[in-house]
Amino acid sequence: MRRIAVASGKGGVGRTTIVASLGIALASLGKETVIIDGSLTTPDLALLFKLEKSVYTLNDALAGDAMFIDVMHLGPKRVKIVPAAVALEQIRKARPERLPELMRQVPKKTDFVLIDVPSGLSRETVSAMRAGQEVLLVATPEMTSISDAMKTRLIAEFLGLAPIGIVLNRVRREEFELTRNEIKNVPVLAEIPEDEKVRQALKQGKPLLELDSKSPAAKAIKELARKLLKMKGVASKTVISKK
Ligand SMILES: Nc1ncnc2c1ncn2[C@@H]1O[C@H](COP(=O)(O)OP(=O)(O)OP(=O)(O)O)[C@@H](O)[C@H]1O
Ligand SMILES: [Mg+2]
Repeated sequence: MRRIAVASGKGGVGRTTIVASLGIALASLGKETVIIDGSLTTPDLALLFKLEKSVYTLNDALAGDAMFIDVMHLGPKRVKIVPAAVALEQIRKARPERLPELMRQVPKKTDFVLIDVPSGLSRETVSAMRAGQEVLLVATPEMTSISDAMKTRLIAEFLGLAPIGIVLNRVRREEFELTRNEIKNVPVLAEIPEDEKVRQALKQGKPLLELDSKSPAAKAIKELARKLLKMKGVASKTVISKK
């Protein structure tokens, strides 16, 4: 099982979009995949999959009121989605620091766990990162976005996660953008183009890979999934800390 924290320095760079579509892409390649919304104060995964009315959410599992298996919802291509609650009183009850510990309850047959890590440096950011063993960074191709992603990488490394690479999202190939060759100290695993289908999918309440699996962004995400499969991962040795 590989647990990958998907993290960025800045917010709004496309992390949740990538977690959702990458999860579906891995599942359609035959891998048991669980995607988790680690953004407890700004939960978006539920909205992307129309799960906002779910009876059980990650918040219940974090509060000790439900088992992890009870808060997994079946999504497209049999991807398992663990949404965080959208209602305010539910948001208040969750204890984000329990997320790393909760990973012990992930079904053993799982191949991939993707965790949507909230941006910033809050307690919930650190907890969501500590639930992973590897970190996949997401940034837009601008200096500030990449520089903030590199800071996130340092924090992830400090927490014991192995950085596997960076994904550049909303690539438009404009003159002032940073290119793959200008990013030196971390491998660029994918360049996902700016694609209007992404927002169209959001508007229609459908994940991108369900709306149009041949759109440019969808193709890049499927390619990223294939790349992840070829990598080894840091896997089983990593102990889940109790703190
Ligand atoms: N490749 C893309 N092409 C066009 N629009 C995109 C692309 N990726 C993301 N978007 C749009 O950018 C916005 C932000 O995306 P998303 O919510 O996935 O970012 P996020 O990093 O999870 O944000 P937050 O920090 O708020 O959680 C959304 O409106 C999404 O539809
Ligand atoms: Mg998000």
